[in-house]
Amino acid sequence: MVSQPIIAAFQQAGQGHVFAFYEQLSPEQQAALLADAAEIDLTEISELNRTLVQDNAAAGIDLSDLTPAPYQALPKNGGDAAAWAEAKRLGEEALRAGRVAAFVVAGGQGTRLGYDGPKGTYPVTPVRKKTLFQVFAEKIRAAGARYGRPIHWFIMTSHLNHAATEAFFREHGFFGLVADQVHFFRQGRMPAVGLDGRILLEEKHRIAMSPDGHGGSLRALQRSGAVDLMAREGIEILSYFQVDNPLVRFIDPAFVGWHLKTRSEMSSKMVPKAYAGEKVGHFCAQRGKTVVIEYSDLPSARQEETDTAGRLRFLAGSIAIHLLDRDFIRRMATGADALPFHRANKKIPCLDADGGALRPEKPNGVKFELFVFDALPFARNPVIIETDRADDFSPVKNAEGLDSPRTCAEDQTRQFARWVNARGASIPVDSTGLPPFTFEVSPLFGYDEDSFAASWAACSSPPAITAGLVLE
Ligand code: UTP
Repeated sequence: MVSQPIIAAFQQAGQGHVFAFYEQLSPEQQAALLADAAEIDLTEISELNRTLVQDNAAAGIDLSDLTPAPYQALPKNGGDAAAWAEAKRLGEEALRAGRVAAFVVAGGQGTRLGYDGPKGTYPVTPVRKKTLFQVFAEKIRAAGARYGRPIHWFIMTSHLNHAATEAFFREHGFFGLVADQVHFFRQGRMPAVGLDGRILLEEKHRIAMSPDGHGGSLRALQRSGAVDLMAREGIEILSYFQVDNPLVRFIDPAFVGWHLKTRSEMSSKMVPKAYAGEKVGHFCAQRGKTVVIEYSDLPSARQEETDTAGRLRFLAGSIAIHLLDRDFIRRMATGADALPFHRANKKIPCLDADGGALRPEKPNGVKFELFVFDALPFARNPVIIETDRADDFSPVKNAEGLDSPRTCAEDQTRQFARWVNARGASIPVDSTGLPPFTFEVSPLFGYDEDSFAASWAACSSPPAITAGLVLE
């Protein structure tokens, strides 16, 4: 075997099998394998093997001293209307000053949807079938025009979809955005290990690597130079959202204002859980910190606890919408505080010891992932605000059923119907607010209720809403 320091390091770490087929590889393949290996921090993997793989008990989530996290309720639910109005004013000022940029995490694999391509290229709107990326791009264009200041957009991809994502934007002329204001960067990767902690090979010259989770965004923002770019452009706040949720109001002045006026370093939106067992994370307080406890980690008895008014006690559900301060991102990426990895047992196609292909039917290995909400306990003054689910959250996760393209298209149509009926139209809707036909409002006409109201009022006569209409 050729002597290479990196191979020796893998052997010393008990991971020498990664190079078992090295002598059979072409020079290009050898280089590819060495490049994969060079990305791996062997000390980190050995530590993760110890804490998360071998001694799974150590991975237990600390549920002691948990109480529901406080949040700013919407005025209609008892919140302070004057404080919300002040927040909105402050947020609008920050948007006009160009202090806020959009940030979508789009590095996931979208396995549940089963769509072949970057998830952002999935068509979602009810009539035009605009893709997720187009919807976000148009919201950014419209908000930029409204505040008189184009909004920068950061897009995190992974090694699996980076090239395809960039190509998609080029093909579509960046959907009318200035190309220089759209910034793509790749998130990091982590190797998968078998249940025995040995790093898995995908091919003889490829290590089984996968994206390091949405929490990898903090270090990727720093490593890619995005944080420096923010500083150069005077951007102080990133508005973080997920690629699968076209309803998201990521340019939300009241949210930005709450973040600013409470001097928060990381802020989040919550929705009241729809029912006790709903599969969302719970915002909780724990010894003076804000934490998110996943649905799978909070015992169902606690999820069902109610207060004296009969409301769920752990009511605040996380919908993965956050604001992140630039200096906080930098501190998390370079300082002593680090996000913890989580373990996910997965079916991972790989090679056996003889180089034969394994296509497992049950989980055969572990992937390591970082979650962005784990940054909350490190943030100063984190603030959580309530939002209406119908205006902020309808993700496309599954091919069918709950959180599917169909439910998402229906939620968009419900929103459009609400907006037009609130202004005097009278289209019929069923008990869930859904009209018997589809129509669509382009984000360029209205990307939130305020901008919609302004465009509607500017029409010479109220548009007649008919099946298939697109207001744009
Ligand atoms: P999900 O947890 O829904 O995962 O990601 P996913 O990969 O999109 O879908 P499944 O679980 O394979 O079906 C939530 C958000 O976080 C992003 C996703 O792109 C999505 O916007 N994400 C997830 C990343 O950017 N990187 C990751 O490593 C994981």
